[in-house]
Amino acid sequence: MDSALVIGGTRFIGRHLVEELLEHSYDVTILNRGTRENPFADDDRVDRVEGDRTNDSALEAAAATVDPDAVFDCVAYHPKDVRAATGIFADCEAYVYVSSGAAYGREEIPKREGETPLEPCTAEQATDDSMETYGNRKAEGDRAVFAAAEQGVNATSVRPCVVYGPHDYTERLDWWIDRVNRFDRVVVPGDGTNVWHRAYVEDVASALRIVAERGEAGEAYNVGDRRLVTLGEMVELIADEFETDIEIVHAGTRELEAGGIELDDFPLYRGYPHVLSTAKLAALGWESTPLEEAMARSVAAHLESDRDGSERGPDREAEERVLGILDTF
Ligand SMILES: NC(=O)c1ccc[n+]([C@@H]2O[C@H](COP(=O)([O-])OP(=O)(O)OC[C@H]3O[C@@H](n4cnc5c(N)ncnc54)[C@H](OP(=O)(O)O)[C@@H]3O)[C@@H](O)[C@H]2O)c1
Repeated sequence: MDSALVIGGTRFIGRHLVEELLEHSYDVTILNRGTRENPFADDDRVDRVEGDRTNDSALEAAAATVDPDAVFDCVAYHPKDVRAATGIFADCEAYVYVSSGAAYGREEIPKREGETPLEPCTAEQATDDSMETYGNRKAEGDRAVFAAAEQGVNATSVRPCVVYGPHDYTERLDWWIDRVNRFDRVVVPGDGTNVWHRAYVEDVASALRIVAERGEAGEAYNVGDRRLVTLGEMVELIADEFETDIEIVHAGTRELEAGGIELDDFPLYRGYPHVLSTAKLAALGWESTPLEEAMARSVAAHLESDRDGSERGPDREAEERVLGILDTF
């Protein structure tokens, strides 16, 4: 495979994917609407096709003019998007759909491809735009991939858990990095042992390439850090990167009440663990970046950016009230 079309490609996962593909000598074309700045505008190795992927004729035009070997679909939020793309790019050597760990419909540890049931999706959910139906729609996209593979299309799916790293516009990790950077005492919800599996963005990019090259049609592959850390350990990893000693202060539901905060208000906190098995992807020869390295790059990118995550979690004044209550015990 020599040429790749990335549907999307200028924001976060797709942006890292373009870099990964360039490093592996692909001719890369990105397809997007152009509402976002193109970080590859000055890179003559990356061509760009303008178009809205929800418009089939934009995909048809790209199929005709670019004729890519591999297609990576970063912007499929509705099952009809996947159905359209797997039809239009049916003759390509590989089509990879960026699905999500949110597609899983049962809480179990770990969630495994082909074993853990997926979310159902009603006709109404399939065309909805709200976050409540995100997992349903992603799951139905997976089923569209499986159906296309039945018809002979080399279609696969990659399911990332929570993705972090440079250019992460969700700012979930930025909130925590900002806390560790600015304060000596950091409130961690609960006892700090909860786990919401995370995936370093460069590892998601390499997973997408490897699945295109070596994945089996009709299969889905989870991607996430091979070694997981709890929320408390993640905060310690950040502190290690800053070479600073911080005091982690655990606060349960009652203590948090003092600040009018709930456990779920903290970014990357999840009551029940969300863990994806990554064995199937690792069997293709994929590896994840060591956590320290992934965190070092994430912290460096945070410091260079203007992201502080302030919209993503409790404000410091509320936390100070919680710390005040704990100090009186
Ligand atoms: N972040 C996570 O934690 C996470 C976890 C699991 C799965 N995912 C999945 O990852 C994917 C998103 O990745 P990303 O945003 O990081 O990808 P990206 O490819 O880096 O950025 C999104 C791109 O899509 C383009 N775009 C948006 N709407 C479009 C449209 N209608 N037609 C054509 N292009 C369009 C944007 O440019 P323009 O606006 O200029 O068009 C931009 O280039 C989604 O499928 C999401 O479900 C994310």
